[in-house]
Amino acid sequence: MEGKGLIGLLERRRSCRRFTAEKLDRATVDRLLLAAAGAPVGSNRNEDIHITVVEDRAVLDELAVAMRRRRQDAADLRLITEKIPDRNVAVRDGFDPFYGAPVVFFVSHRRQDLQPGIEYSNVMSVAMMMHLQATELGLGSVFMWGSLEAMRMYPEYDRTELLRLPEGFQPLLGLAVGHPAADAEPRELAPDKFGVNRLPE
Ligand SMILES: Cc1cc2nc3c(=O)[nH]c(=O)nc-3n(C[C@H](O)[C@H](O)[C@H](O)COP(=O)(O)O)c2cc1C
Repeated sequence: MEGKGLIGLLERRRSCRRFTAEKLDRATVDRLLLAAAGAPVGSNRNEDIHITVVEDRAVLDELAVAMRRRRQDAADLRLITEKIPDRNVAVRDGFDPFYGAPVVFFVSHRRQDLQPGIEYSNVMSVAMMMHLQATELGLGSVFMWGSLEAMRMYPEYDRTELLRLPEGFQPLLGLAVGHPAADAEPRELAPDKFGVNRLPE
C-alpha cells in the first residue's frame, strides 16, 4: 500500500537519469526556486548560498568536459556500478553527466572558514528541497556531484567561471531536472535501510 503524506512522496522520490527533450517552463523553474527558499541554512547565513539556473546546453557541455576526462581514467571506472543501470547506459552512449536534462540548478556556497564543512550540509539542504519539489511535480531529478568534483580534480578543465558566480563562491552541488522519459513505480521504504542503534539499547 502506498504511504501517505511525506512518506508517499519519498516512495516516489528517486534519481532520474533519462529525460525527454521538453524544457521546463518559467513557472516550474520558479516553483523549484521557491521550494529552495524553504531550506534551512546553518546560522541562517542565507547570503552564503547562491543558485545558478543553467538551461544553456553549450555551458553544460563545457562543464561536462572535466567529467569526461575523468571517465577516461581507468581507475575511475570502478565507480560505474551495476547498481545504477541508467548511468551505465549514459556511459555507453557517450557520457553526459547531466543526462540531457533541460535544466541544471547549481548550488554554490561562499568560501568560508567560520564553520568548516557546513557548506556541504547547506547546499544539500537547498538542493534536497528542489529534488523533493521536483518529485511532487512529477518531474525527474538527480543530484550532480561528480561533474563539479571532476572540475576540482582536473583544474585545467575547470570552467566554473561560466556560471558567473559572485566573487568568493564555489559550486558544490547541482540538481539536474527535467521531464522523466519513463514512469517509475513507487518504491516501498524500509526502516532498516541504514544502520541504526538506539540508546538506551
Ligand atoms: C550528495 C549526492 C551526490 C550525488 N551525485 C550524483 C552524480 O554526480 N551523478 C549521478 O548520476 N547521481 C548522483 N547522485 C545520486 C545517487 O547516485 C543516488 O541518490 C543513489 O544511487 C540512490 O538512488 P536513488 O536516489 O534513486 O534512491 C548523488 C546523490 C547524492 C546524495
